[in-house]
Amino acid sequence: MQGSSDKTFYLETFGCQMNVHDSEKVIGTLLQQGYRQVPSVEEAGLILYNTCSIRDKAEQKVFHRLADYRKLQEQGKKFGVLGCVAQQEGERIFERAPHVSIVCGSASYRNLPEMLVQIEAGNRTTGLDDRQTDHCFETEYTARTNPHRGYITIIEGCDKFCAYCVVPFTRGKERSRTSASVLAEVRQLAELGYTEIQLLGQNVNSYRDPDGKKSFAELLKAVAEVNGIERVRFTTSHPRDFGRDIVQAIDGTPALCDHVHLPVQSGSTRVLDAMQRLYTRDEYLERISWIHSAKRDISITTDLIVGFPGETEREFEETLSLLDAVGYDSAFTFKYSPRPNTPALRLEDAIPDSEKAQRLAVLNERQKQIQTRRNQRHLGQTIRVMVEGKNPTRGQWIGRTSQIKVLNFTAPERVELKTGSYADVKVTAIFPNSLVGEMIAGGL
Ligand code: 5AD
Ligand code: SF4
Repeated sequence: MQGSSDKTFYLETFGCQMNVHDSEKVIGTLLQQGYRQVPSVEEAGLILYNTCSIRDKAEQKVFHRLADYRKLQEQGKKFGVLGCVAQQEGERIFERAPHVSIVCGSASYRNLPEMLVQIEAGNRTTGLDDRQTDHCFETEYTARTNPHRGYITIIEGCDKFCAYCVVPFTRGKERSRTSASVLAEVRQLAELGYTEIQLLGQNVNSYRDPDGKKSFAELLKAVAEVNGIERVRFTTSHPRDFGRDIVQAIDGTPALCDHVHLPVQSGSTRVLDAMQRLYTRDEYLERISWIHSAKRDISITTDLIVGFPGETEREFEETLSLLDAVGYDSAFTFKYSPRPNTPALRLEDAIPDSEKAQRLAVLNERQKQIQTRRNQRHLGQTIRVMVEGKNPTRGQWIGRTSQIKVLNFTAPERVELKTGSYADVKVTAIFPNSLVGEMIAGGL
């Protein structure tokens, strides 16, 4: 049936894991409505962009795409903007890109079926939500793009209002799902053969079970105990709400991956205060000490922003010294980008872009050295990886460790590994961003 449909769509996703997973639900919903997904804009009747507005650069990407393909409108193709830019810019998108017919924020995706009927009738349609919306986008039609790693949203929105961040405005207030519905989805995925579960939320530590049955740490343990589940990840944690019980859960539950992503943003208490992050450098380091004192070797990754308004050279150096104090296994680093509606807009963005770029380069160089040093400990270790694919040019298999590191490895020539299977690999060399090894044993 689907194959014979003349209703076709192309969907491109920008931004975070939440958006990637939202797209899986959008795809599922469109397939349910008789649409067929195609791999190129040229083949599609409906062209959709699921957008990100976390930094200005991400936002501009969608307007460039819309401008590039504007002429296709003459062939009767329709365009839609979904996600965070849609929610943020609303109907202004129609002014900037008049060939767009759907503008829809993430809490309105449940209305997509009716919106599709509208655009098929030649109308324009919008689905925008106010911050107070209670709607989640739960759908049984999720079209999962990865057959081994299942993404599950446990909490939507954010109530933190960090001074630089647009998310509380684009994704609304925090709404948690019941632990019972999360666990039912995990069991369903396990039955379908999924072995890795990734629990998603802007701030998973704020998870509050509406039924009051489980804390976040208890939910983690319960998910990890579902039959067939080998690995459980979660992202993103907020340091303010990060409890010791999470470290204890990881320590006591082998299926919980030994990795915590704990965005710090800055190493200076003064800047953290201006960012409204709700913790000091010392409080952050206390949480790190819990992780460092765990029995398992838990890898720690983070997000950092340089050039927040008013950040002095000395304050930036405090961020550098924090990198050393923590010893991150990886860091995502960004130049501050002023965003609409955010409290930081009132502060003057006085640090020139060249200075931000310079700080970013210094930060990245320091972090690269730390990663090289940190990865030394893996030399000679035998580590279990999930096989993610094969690099055709180098003939190496690509594996992912529980600590979320890439481990490229060789296997005996006749061995063909399946993606999603597991292998034990001995590490023979290290780089700042990856490990290299040889397979010892494979299979599930
Ligand atoms: N400018 C730069 N980086 C930002 N982030 C969020 N908002 C901004 C902004 N306005 C970064 C933070 C966050 C990550 C997802 O993106 O580091 O943790
Ligand atoms: Fe943005 Fe802060 Fe919420 Fe993270 S916790 S989504 S950085 S407001």
